[in-house]
Amino acid sequence: MAHCGSDLSAAEAITPHFPEMKRKLLDYLRCPSCGGNITLPSVTQEEGAEIMEGQLACDSCAQSFPIVRGVPRFAATEDLAPDKAATAENFGWQWQHFTHGNDLYAEQFLGWIAPVRPEFFKDKVVLEGGCGKGRHTLLAASWGAREIIGVDLSDAVETAFAATRVLENAHIVQADIYHLPFPRVFDYVFSVGVLHHLPDPAAGFRSLSATVKPGGHLSAWVYGAENNEWITRGINPLREKFSSKIDQRALLQLSKFPTALMYLATKLVYGPLNRSDAGAKVARHLFYNDYLNAISKFGWREQHTIVFDHLVAPTSHYIHRDEFEAWWSAINAEDVTIGWHNKNSWRGFARIRI
Ligand SMILES: C[S@@+](CC[C@H](N)C(=O)[O-])C[C@H]1O[C@@H](n2cnc3c(N)ncnc32)[C@H](O)[C@@H]1O
Ligand SMILES: [Zn+2]
Repeated sequence: MAHCGSDLSAAEAITPHFPEMKRKLLDYLRCPSCGGNITLPSVTQEEGAEIMEGQLACDSCAQSFPIVRGVPRFAATEDLAPDKAATAENFGWQWQHFTHGNDLYAEQFLGWIAPVRPEFFKDKVVLEGGCGKGRHTLLAASWGAREIIGVDLSDAVETAFAATRVLENAHIVQADIYHLPFPRVFDYVFSVGVLHHLPDPAAGFRSLSATVKPGGHLSAWVYGAENNEWITRGINPLREKFSSKIDQRALLQLSKFPTALMYLATKLVYGPLNRSDAGAKVARHLFYNDYLNAISKFGWREQHTIVFDHLVAPTSHYIHRDEFEAWWSAINAEDVTIGWHNKNSWRGFARIRI
C-alpha cells in the first residue's frame, strides 16, 4: 500500500542528531576545478566523527568549499549561468515542497534503471547524478550499496540530506553535474530524469560517465521525443513562456487543474481498463496508455508532483532514440542496453570498458 503522505525524512524523527557530512566521504572527493586532493582544514561543528559545519580545501589550487548544514557545497547557486540558476531555483523549491515518500518509488525506480535489480547495488560505490529529494539515494542505500553519493545542484539537497542522514552509507553533495567533485571511482553511476533538464544533456552524460571506473556501469533515463509530440508542440511553449516563469506557489495551485484531469482519467478509465485482459485490449488503443496506466497506481499527491515537475522546468529536452544511442557510442561503453520505457522515454544501461 502506498502511503503518499509519509515524509521521506521520517527516519530522522526516529534517530535525531545522527551523522552530518560523514568523514569517509573525503576518500571520494576531488577538486571540481583542478582534480586536486580535497582536505578538511577546518571543522567548526562536529558530532563524533561527523562534520556539520566546516571547510574543505583543494591542496593544489587552494580553492575552498564550505560544509553547510552537513552538506559539502561545491556549487554556489548565485554564481550559476541564468538558465542553470532558474532550473536550480525551480527544482529546489519543488523538492522542498514535495518531500513525501511513496512505497511505489522502488518499482518506479527499477523501471527507469532496468535491467538493474536491487541486488546489483550490493557493496557497490554508487553515484546518483541529480538526486532531487533523495528518494533513489535512499533506495540505493537500503539495497546495500557500500556508499551512495547523491549529488544535486539545487536546494533539494536540504531535503535529500534530511531523508538520508541516518544512513551510514548515504552522502549528499551539492554540485553541478558538469563539474563533479569526484575522480573515476564509482562502480555504478545512475541519473534519472535529470539530463534532459541540462542546457547540454550530452555533455552532462559525458561528465557522469567520466566518474565510472573501468568495468563499472552506468544508467540514464531521459524523456523521449518519440510519441511526445503533443508535449513538444502543445505543452512546451506554455511551459517555456509561462509555467516555469511564474511564482512556484501560483503554479502549485494552477497545476491542480491538469492534475485533476489526469487523476480522473487514470483512476476512472486507464487504471480500471488495464486491470482486466478484455479491458487492456481496448485500453492499448487509448492515448498515452502505457504511461497513464503506469501512473494510475499513484495517488493525488504523487500525480500532482508529476504534473508540477513537468510544468516547473525552465529547460526540458526531448531526446530521439538515435541521439540517445549516439551518447552511448561516444563514451567508452560496451554491452549497451537501450529500452523504450512506457513508450515515452529512453533508458540506457552499459558497462564502461576496462
Ligand atoms: C526532475 S528532478 C529529478 C530528481 C531525481 N532524480 C528523482 O527522480 O527524484 C531533476 C533534478 O536535477 C537537478 N539538476 C538540474 N540541473 C543540475 C545540474 N547541472 N547538476 C546537478 N543537478 C541538477 C535538479 O535540481 C533536480 O533536483
Ligand atoms: Zn583545485
